[in-house]
Amino acid sequence: MSKYYVTTPIYYVNDLPHVGHIYTTVVCDTLARYHRMVGDDVYFLTGTDEHGQKIQRAAAEQGVTPIQLADRVVERYTELWKELDITHDDLLRTSQPRHHMAVQEMVRRIAERDDFYVDRHEGWYCSGCEAFYTEKELTEEKHCPVHERPAEWEEEENVFFRLSKYQDALIEWYDQDPSPVLPLSRRNEVRSFVESGLRDLSVSRTKVEWGVPFPDKPGHTVYVWLDALTNYLSALGFGSDDSSLFDRYWQDDEGQRVHVIGKDILRFHAVYWPAFLMSAGLPLPTCVFAHGWWLRDDRKMSKSVGNVTRPDHLVESFGADALRLFLLRDMVFGQDANFSDEAFVDRYNSDLANGLGNTLSRLVTLSRRAFENRTPPKVAWDAELMTSANRAIDEYREGMEKYAFQRGLEALWRLLGETNQFLVSHEPWKLLKQPEERQHVAEVLATSLEVVRLVATALLPILPETAPKVLAALGVDAVASSEALRWGGLPVDSPLAEGESLFPRIDKKKYFADVTEPPTEGGAKTSSKDSGESAAAEVIAPIESEIAFDDFTKVDLRVADVKAAEEVPKSKKLLKLTLELDGVERTVVAGIKQQYAPEDLVGKQVIIVANLAPAKLMGIESQGMVLAASVGGAAVVLGTAQRVPSGTRVR
Ligand code: MSP
Repeated sequence: MSKYYVTTPIYYVNDLPHVGHIYTTVVCDTLARYHRMVGDDVYFLTGTDEHGQKIQRAAAEQGVTPIQLADRVVERYTELWKELDITHDDLLRTSQPRHHMAVQEMVRRIAERDDFYVDRHEGWYCSGCEAFYTEKELTEEKHCPVHERPAEWEEEENVFFRLSKYQDALIEWYDQDPSPVLPLSRRNEVRSFVESGLRDLSVSRTKVEWGVPFPDKPGHTVYVWLDALTNYLSALGFGSDDSSLFDRYWQDDEGQRVHVIGKDILRFHAVYWPAFLMSAGLPLPTCVFAHGWWLRDDRKMSKSVGNVTRPDHLVESFGADALRLFLLRDMVFGQDANFSDEAFVDRYNSDLANGLGNTLSRLVTLSRRAFENRTPPKVAWDAELMTSANRAIDEYREGMEKYAFQRGLEALWRLLGETNQFLVSHEPWKLLKQPEERQHVAEVLATSLEVVRLVATALLPILPETAPKVLAALGVDAVASSEALRWGGLPVDSPLAEGESLFPRIDKKKYFADVTEPPTEGGAKTSSKDSGESAAAEVIAPIESEIAFDDFTKVDLRVADVKAAEEVPKSKKLLKLTLELDGVERTVVAGIKQQYAPEDLVGKQVIIVANLAPAKLMGIESQGMVLAASVGGAAVVLGTAQRVPSGTRVR
């Protein structure tokens, strides 16, 4: 059994997860599930990056301690990974003692090689990247090229790592075949960076206390990237008394050690990390794969740009599997891709509702009609479609193994398309009325049903919730194995239940007319009804640009009495409120259901924007908007300090 160790980057806890973070995790989960399916011995790690200046500052801005901030965000990550069916074996937090031990062990090993020295250091630092930049690398305005924010000039005495010593060894590593850094375009990029000359790296900070103390250097904290990268070892017990996982997944000569990362953190993983490992005398990763960015309006989706998509509304409306499929199918792994809700709905309709869902229900219905609610009896297969199917499965496997998910998935949907063509050309719906064609119908339906079984099996790593349902509709147990990926597993003459519609088609126009939450910022979901306390992970948003007093007075704010409140069916977020303003009732829909039960609000006074143009939310016309503070995406409804007549103006 080959060892397959796969890791996500560890996520900074100054931000709630968005599509960019989810993407890497979905990719790794798919890889982990696929490798388990083909019989590998898999260990899948994710985690959170909790130390450093960025987190220290974010916590201070929110008036909490760094660990309080981290605890809140980790709670949200844990919840989200559950919602998305992520099957990690461990979630490492860098604040954990096991990690501190591992980092200190790493530092000791590097020190034993005499690869550290102390020197004065000055340079431009971006706390977003937690990295120094040379002047040349900054923009003309001295802004960080990734975060597009000013870099800060820093001067202090630091411990340095002799990175330059590893230049030749790194080049040799990049030149291995197959390349350990992928895609090749990124390998080339990183190779020329190293070839142009490496400078030693500062690996301690004296101004940052929130981190791992540097062994034998009082007052120094381990540089957050040396700290963070070591997570890949600490989760395996490196530096502890129990090295069984470490030996099994990191020290195995034949094993794969795969880091999936975004392209913005390539240098850390493909230059610093292997150099640290070489110095510590440890094996290197076998693959560092840098994927592209999800963009919105052609800019990297990121908290600092303020253009992130929190995918809650999509998961709520379409399920986690639809998001998983979209992410894998609509980004060429390695390149950038634009995220749009419209493309998402299109993908859902074309691939799930039409491609998979329709083919399945059409075939089950036909087979039930032709063969007394059963699958066809034993027959010969259609050789041509069978050959196509085997080819498609080979392409799928190659796609999964070469990180070309999009290609692998395309092959499966091409096969479904071919199957539909095959049905159209044989017209079994006409033949099933002719008894002499029974054999022919059986062959056509059995071959097509077997294609669907194969496709659903191949989709188990991508659609963990719905692929088993497709298989169940065919009367097949969901078994994720190489064996199940071979042609011929369809049960013969076995009962078929009446199919439920697994992927109802979405009326795109109606969906976008009814859609409730804005697709970007603000849709962040939290689980607790006690609002702010456990959810406040959001850094306070910057103040909007100035407006004239006249502009402010255009917004008519009023006090309203809540007369009645009820849940909006099928929405996880919306409550429908009946409000009274000076004797006149109106309906207002508010996205506050996760924080308030209807009975919490009846009898209370709220503040509303009374002259907002009406909008339809889930088919209900909302005549105004209830004001609420948004704490990490959780609503805290605003009221008055004492009761006032309803309809009173607020200024
Ligand atoms: N903490 C570091 C990683 C340390 S690993 C030893 C970090 N954290 S992060 O939270 O900022 O980013 C985590 C991952 O999410 C990175 O791989 C990053 O590339 C990815 N993404 C963040 N925004 C992204 C997009 N808009 N699109 C795709 N992935 C992006 O970096």
